[in-house]
Amino acid sequence: MSEALYRKWRPKLWDEVISQEHIVRTLKNAVVADRVAHAYLFSGPRGTGKTTAARLLAKAVNCLNPDPSKRPCNECEHCKSVNENRFMDLVEIDAASNNGVDDVRELRDKINFSPSQGQYRIYIIDEVHMLSTPAFNALLKTLEEPPAHAIFILATTEIHKIPATVLSRCQRFEFQRVQMADIVKHLKAICEKENIQAEPEALISIARQSSGGMRDAISLLDQLATNGEKITIGMVQTVLGTAPSQAVINIIQAVIDMEAGTGLNQIQAALDGGADVQNLAKQVVEYLRNILLFQMGNNDQVDVTSEIRTVMNLHANALTSAETLRILRLFNAATTDSRGGSSSLGLELAVVEAVEQPSPVVVQTQAAVYERREKPVEAEKQPVRQEKIDPTPPNQGIKQVKSATGSTVTIEQISAVWKQLHFAVKPQDPTLAGLINSGKLLEIREGVLIISFASEILQGRFNRPENLEITRKALFELLKVDLPIQAVVSGSKNALPSHIKQDGMVAAASQLGGEIVDIQ
Ligand SMILES: Nc1ncnc2c1ncn2[C@@H]1O[C@H](COP(=O)(O)OP(=O)(O)O)[C@@H](O)[C@H]1O
Ligand SMILES: [Mg+2]
Ligand SMILES: [Zn+2]
Repeated sequence: MSEALYRKWRPKLWDEVISQEHIVRTLKNAVVADRVAHAYLFSGPRGTGKTTAARLLAKAVNCLNPDPSKRPCNECEHCKSVNENRFMDLVEIDAASNNGVDDVRELRDKINFSPSQGQYRIYIIDEVHMLSTPAFNALLKTLEEPPAHAIFILATTEIHKIPATVLSRCQRFEFQRVQMADIVKHLKAICEKENIQAEPEALISIARQSSGGMRDAISLLDQLATNGEKITIGMVQTVLGTAPSQAVINIIQAVIDMEAGTGLNQIQAALDGGADVQNLAKQVVEYLRNILLFQMGNNDQVDVTSEIRTVMNLHANALTSAETLRILRLFNAATTDSRGGSSSLGLELAVVEAVEQPSPVVVQTQAAVYERREKPVEAEKQPVRQEKIDPTPPNQGIKQVKSATGSTVTIEQISAVWKQLHFAVKPQDPTLAGLINSGKLLEIREGVLIISFASEILQGRFNRPENLEITRKALFELLKVDLPIQAVVSGSKNALPSHIKQDGMVAAASQLGGEIVDIQ
């Protein structure tokens, strides 16, 4: 088997270390000024360069290059032997497996011997937080009076587990997570040099998944590159298991369609197919979280194939962020369902509750939420829905025909089909269908159908040209009457009794369409 990519790509020069500039600069300067400390503590997330920097330092202090600013040179005998893992005065100890006091004592006993090859003997103690308390105490003794030829470099991912007594003896450096963009750049460079083909989005996805750890990113790339195929985002998702399953998509589709039965069937089918209940619930939550990101306009933070992106876009447009949040909470409850792993009841309840809530659009009363819904990128919007909408500009129709059949229509007739209208619009635009549900038929005023809404937000929303057009067309289909439509705000707010706080709960409820039935 060939060498792991992350090892192969371990920086051999200070300048190759990515994103830990401050640490590199300080260590480099210490070498040049010949003021290297005897104990260092490198802390930070895994795969950010701690061992790498420790080795570079070991190499630099033993490098034979006459110019200190060129150390490590990678050309002298010492540098070469460090690079080839045969330098005798570099001792790497994994505290995870050598955590006892005996291990540290052994180290202490040997420490007084002079280096056999270089000027310094370097001890790198990895995962130092794993040492037992007696081992820490023994180490402390060594750190208190280190021989001039010894340099300790302790590395840990868990700085909070290091005793203060040890901390105080060391010069400390905190390694930072590597920025995503820097990881992507590095992966790209490795791909070029290793002749690996990869979609840019795949590299971005890898970088995101590795959350700042360069080693994880390179390892994942390595794993994906083994079969020699071009690395696609689909492959990344398969390996990571992050692709939303069809079951998840179907469940959300059922919720949007308000078809609880279909949703329940989907759950059952997924479970029959071997899916784990809580895992399925988690996947639904993750999916909804991504839908929220879409709704906030942060599509670029979601790693999915273009096919799934299209579906997510539809779902993101079919729901308001408030609805998405509500549904997300319901499914989240199912992920921690106390009934235990095998019962699907929690998940089923989530589907039913998600569907059964009365018109969720009404929940959305905050202007901020409303604003955000405007954001989705135009180019990505709604391919399916657009196909269904006749692109006739709204005004044309209104001017041309007032009543296609020449017949007149009464508000009662419209009222009789209002519910049908809701269902007619739903497949095309569930949000609008919800709006239609929450609107009240007021009157036909000078040939215009007037619908009233409880709040300005709902009214403004319904009054968008595309919504008016869809509604008008749907009404025409039902009654063969072509009526321009206009939304107004109902007087419910102003109608509140004067002693009721205008910004209180009752006012809010009234805004949401509630009526005061009794005052006690
Ligand atoms: N800052 C970095 N710059 C460049 N490569 C890095 C960096 N950090 C980690 N790597 C890559 O990840 C591998 C493992 O890094 P390492 O230094 O062992 O991480 P750790 O912080 O866990 O000790 C390195 O061999 C290198 O390929
Ligand atoms: Mg390490
Ligand atoms: Zn050298």
